[in-house]
Amino acid sequence: MDHAALLAMAHTLHRAGLFGDGRSYSTGDILSALGAAPRHHWIVRRWLAALTREGMLRCEGGEHHGLRPVSRPELAAAMRNLETGRRGMGYPAEMGRFFQTALRSLPNLVRDEISLQSLLFPGGETGTAQGNYRDNLVSRHLNALAAAAVATASRSRDAQGRLRVLEIGAGVGATTEFVLDALAHVPLDYLFTDVSGFFLDAAHERFGHMPGMRYALLDINATMSAQLSSAQLSSAQLSSTQCGDEAPFDIVLAANVLHNARHTGRTLAAIRELLVPGGTLVLLESCIEHHLVSTSMHFLMSPRPEEPLAGFADLREGQDRVFLTRTEWLRQLAAVGFRDVQVRPDPDDPIAAAGQYVFSTVRGEGAHRPDPASLLAAAAERLPRHLVLREIQSVDAFPGLAMSPCRRPGDR
Ligand SMILES: C[S@@+](CC[C@H](N)C(=O)[O-])C[C@H]1O[C@@H](n2cnc3c(N)ncnc32)[C@H](O)[C@@H]1O
Repeated sequence: MDHAALLAMAHTLHRAGLFGDGRSYSTGDILSALGAAPRHHWIVRRWLAALTREGMLRCEGGEHHGLRPVSRPELAAAMRNLETGRRGMGYPAEMGRFFQTALRSLPNLVRDEISLQSLLFPGGETGTAQGNYRDNLVSRHLNALAAAAVATASRSRDAQGRLRVLEIGAGVGATTEFVLDALAHVPLDYLFTDVSGFFLDAAHERFGHMPGMRYALLDINATMSAQLSSAQLSSAQLSSTQCGDEAPFDIVLAANVLHNARHTGRTLAAIRELLVPGGTLVLLESCIEHHLVSTSMHFLMSPRPEEPLAGFADLREGQDRVFLTRTEWLRQLAAVGFRDVQVRPDPDDPIAAAGQYVFSTVRGEGAHRPDPASLLAAAAERLPRHLVLREIQSVDAFPGLAMSPCRRPGDR
């Protein structure tokens, strides 16, 4: 499937009139020959890097040359292989049609003449997307692991009363369905959220008959506690969110969504504050960037046309990548005070080759952390204006930084 994606990238570049003349091209030349929309430039840069890594293109001093030719019969054979792969992975037929249409439509997709949303949700239907997030071997296995992690967390909590679950970026509800099955006998208060109202309407129709379900818009890139306060929360939850004495959720579930955070650490820190101490975060994430994703789903991850082009502001900044590696997630989680991380599948499990993992982790009791707002106020009183930081985040540790030798035991 990845091979078909690579050939389609190369074919798209040839079709734009590039590389047939033996010349070298800068990335800027390539972007303008393709007529690529600025918001998708990062995707084209990913293609160039992938083709170079796979030995199909050469790059010297920032100039690209020698793109390997791709014949129509070779591309057609790759499409047939893609279909075999699709069946082998248990994706439904609509997903095969979706991948092939996306590969054939790359020139229009990069120019923003069509949107990937129109291919993934044809006529506003979510059936094709369900195939991607639910109806295939890897997703079934991973969703079952996520559901098992949620069920384990529900059994290990001390509190009585309804289990309070927040699902972030719940989308087509593929993971939700598994989780609700696993919690069938648990009294629930389940808040299904997404950044898009489109998914809330669909979820309402699908899960509306189930007791304890509520729905709200929630954007992980805006202040989550404030959005949840204004969502229709029960009065007990509302007051705890506002005063911050007691965080409102026993479990937060985020499946295939946190890579959309502009700043992973800040979003994880905000999620931590939404959990009761000892509460559990269950996170499902892709940790490998497959070529097929760069010719399909990545188009969903470009900034929206009306949004500024600001990219990621964390460890991915300026790297034209979306996903964090397994090790990077472990470091990020530890840095904001999550502990006891369990990761499934094990690295030697055959399904680990898909590069998707479920992380289940507990909010630590946490060291007492300074309050950023009072630090800023104190700094503003004592320092000249130009020395006062615009923003302060407090974290438990800096991942990847060695301890200062001057640090004494007990220092914070
Ligand atoms: C890849 S889909 C995953 C859907 C679902 N969790 C699943 O696995 O079946 C990503 C979801 O995240 C949502 N999303 C994207 N950006 C988001 C943001 N900034 N805040 C919250 N949700 C977001 C999308 O609308 C979409 O429903």
